[in-house]
Amino acid sequence: MPKAFRVGVLTGGGDAPGLNAVIRAVTKSLILQHNAEVVGIEDGFQGLIEQDVRPLTYRDVSGILTRGGTILGTSNKANPFSYHRRGGADVSAEVLHFIHDLGLDALVVIGGDGSMSISHGLYERGVPIVGVPKTIDNDIVGTDRTFGFDTAVSIATEAIDRLHTTAQSHNRVMIVETMGRYAGWIALYAGVAGGADVILIPEIDFDLEAIARVCREREDGGQRFTIVAVAEGARPQGGEMVVAKRVEDSPDPIRLGGIGRFLEAELRTRVQSEVRTTILGHMQRGGTPTAYDRNLATCFGAYAAAMVAGGQFGRMVALQDGHFTSVDLASVANRTRTVPLDAPMVATALAVGTSFGVSDFDRRLNPTAPVPGVV
Ligand code: F6P
Repeated sequence: MPKAFRVGVLTGGGDAPGLNAVIRAVTKSLILQHNAEVVGIEDGFQGLIEQDVRPLTYRDVSGILTRGGTILGTSNKANPFSYHRRGGADVSAEVLHFIHDLGLDALVVIGGDGSMSISHGLYERGVPIVGVPKTIDNDIVGTDRTFGFDTAVSIATEAIDRLHTTAQSHNRVMIVETMGRYAGWIALYAGVAGGADVILIPEIDFDLEAIARVCREREDGGQRFTIVAVAEGARPQGGEMVVAKRVEDSPDPIRLGGIGRFLEAELRTRVQSEVRTTILGHMQRGGTPTAYDRNLATCFGAYAAAMVAGGQFGRMVALQDGHFTSVDLASVANRTRTVPLDAPMVATALAVGTSFGVSDFDRRLNPTAPVPGVV
C-alpha cells in the first residue's frame, strides 16, 4: 500500500514531561489511521537547519510513553529566522528548501510560545504546520492547559509537602522557589495543593512587610513555621524580577532565578524564625509525566494527527473548557498567558486564608463567599 503522506515531527524549546507521549501518539496515529510516513527531526528547529532527520517507525515510538525528556532532542536556541550558529542570520529559505526536498506534506511542531511563534512565521511562508502546546509553565495563549504543567505541579507539591515537615520540626520559614517564567501558574497550583501560607506570583507584586506580618502572626499564634511558595518571576513592589543569567544566543536570553534568596535575606531581618530557601529548578522538568500529562499529551498527539489528515494547518491543538479544539497560530504567537487575578484558584487560595503578599489584595475576597469551580 503506498504511503499516503509524509509528516515531519519536531520538539522545540525547553523539554517538558510528556514530549515523548506526544511523539508516540502523533506517530502511531498517523501510521495506524492514515498510513503516513513519519520523519523525526533532531534537536528542534536545529534539525531542519542542519538537515538532521531520521525515520520514525511504529517500533521507534513503542515504549516511550512514560519516559521524560524527548527522544528527538530539543533546542531552545535554534531559530530559523535568526540562527545563533550563523551570527543571527535568517536561514528560513534554506529550511523551506529542505522541507521541500524531504517531501514533507506537513510538519508537527511540539513546543512552547517561542516554537509557536517560529511555526507561525514558517506557516506564513507556506509550510503546512500543526502546533502542539508544551510547557511546564502553562503560559500558552489559547489553551487552558499545556502538557508538562501537571507533572511540574506534582513535583513542586511533593517538595512543599516535604519542606512542611522539616519546617514544622525546626520552626522555620521555608521558601520554595518554582519555575514558571513570567507566569505564576506553577507556584499558584503547587502552593494551593501543598497548603503554602504565602504564594507569590509575577502577576501580583508583593510587599515584604505583608509577608513578614504573616510569618510573625504565625510565630505569635503558636504555628511557628511558614511555607512561602514563590514563582521565579515574582518581584517586590517597585522592584525588578531577579535574573539568574543571560543566555545571549537564545531567542529569550533572560533566565530568571534567585528571588527566593532575595526574599530570604529580606525576611531574615524582619522575622524571628530562621529562614531557608529551596530552589526546585530543573527538577520540575525531569522524569516521568503524571497520568494526567500522559493522557493530555496522548490526546493532543492524536488530535494533531487528525488535523494533519484534515489539512488544518497554521493552527495549534488546544484544550478549552474540557474539549479538544484548535486555535490560529497567529493568535498564539508572541503572547503569554499569565494568571488572571480573578482566576478561580486565586479566589480559592484567598478563601482558605493564603496570602499573596499584599495585605489589600488578601482582604479583597470575602472568605465566606462561595468558591467558584476550579479551572
Ligand atoms: O519554560 C520552561 C522553563 O523551565 C521556565 O520555567 C524556566 O524559566 C526556563 O524554562 C529555564 O530555561 P533553561 O532550561 O534554559 O534554564
